[in-house]
Amino acid sequence: MGKARKKLISKYYGPAQIIYGRLFYLVKHLHNKWHTYKSLRRSIQLDEGSTIGIHHSTMFNLNNSKIIVRNGSLKIGIDFGYFDGGVYDSRKDNCRIYMVNSTLEIDGNVSLFPGVVISAINAKVTIKDGTIINGGSHIIALKDIEIGQNCLFAQGVMVRDNDGHKLSTEISEEVNMGIEGIRIGNHCWLGQKSMVLKGTELKDNVIVAAGAVVTKSVAANNLVAGIPAKVIKENVKWSA
Ligand SMILES: CC(C)(COP(=O)(O)OP(=O)(O)OC[C@H]1O[C@@H](n2cnc3c(N)ncnc32)[C@H](O)[C@@H]1OP(=O)(O)O)[C@@H](O)C(=O)NCCC(=O)NCCS
Repeated sequence: MGKARKKLISKYYGPAQIIYGRLFYLVKHLHNKWHTYKSLRRSIQLDEGSTIGIHHSTMFNLNNSKIIVRNGSLKIGIDFGYFDGGVYDSRKDNCRIYMVNSTLEIDGNVSLFPGVVISAINAKVTIKDGTIINGGSHIIALKDIEIGQNCLFAQGVMVRDNDGHKLSTEISEEVNMGIEGIRIGNHCWLGQKSMVLKGTELKDNVIVAAGAVVTKSVAANNLVAGIPAKVIKENVKWSA
């Protein structure tokens, strides 16, 4: 190769790589957006008068699944709490909705704040009117998770109806992965970074303290705290 040609290539190689890289990512981005748009059109079912608002950074992976909104609106990654300003932000904390053979059913007005993840495989997730799920909360369903009306999830709450892996002990054979549905009643308040595990039912007006791990069902109007969560107050009331 001639000296002049080599010089020309070395001069333009860097900028050409940058332009090529940018173009590649632009095409990939548009391609992803187009696929998301197509799968959303197929998967979202809005009843008459119901709406859905989706922050553009939201990531969807919907495989043979449906998002059904009735009697209200679903907002994904749009609202954020007064104290959330600098913590969870849709520009860096995308909401992610991953569903395979599953249904997300919204009945009424529901808001998922930035960074909320809903992951459902062969499962149904139901969220009812007036419920707000704060930034960074995760709902991981392999069966059935129902969340009642006017519930408030603080930041980083985790609700999972499955253990994710099989387990065995010295005295017991390997058992199947634990999967049992979860039901959260109306007007429950789940404190920051609390967890609700498989097979539990929270009756109406339950408060779960920050960092608690709920492994057993909780009767109405009780406040539970700790790991595992125990009742520390009865007949409690809370307001937003
Ligand atoms: C649930 C909560 C509001 C209860 O507050 P409270 O009624 O004032 O509770 P108290 O301070 O009277 O505590 C009662 C007892 O429970 C214990 N306790 C309180 N919160 C606890 C927690 N998160 N984990 C374990 N124990 C807890 C206290 O140490 C106290 O124990 P003691 O009786 O041995 O002294 C509070 O514990 C909490 O979790 N606050 C954070 C809520 C949150 O995440 N907000 C985010 C905005 S949505």
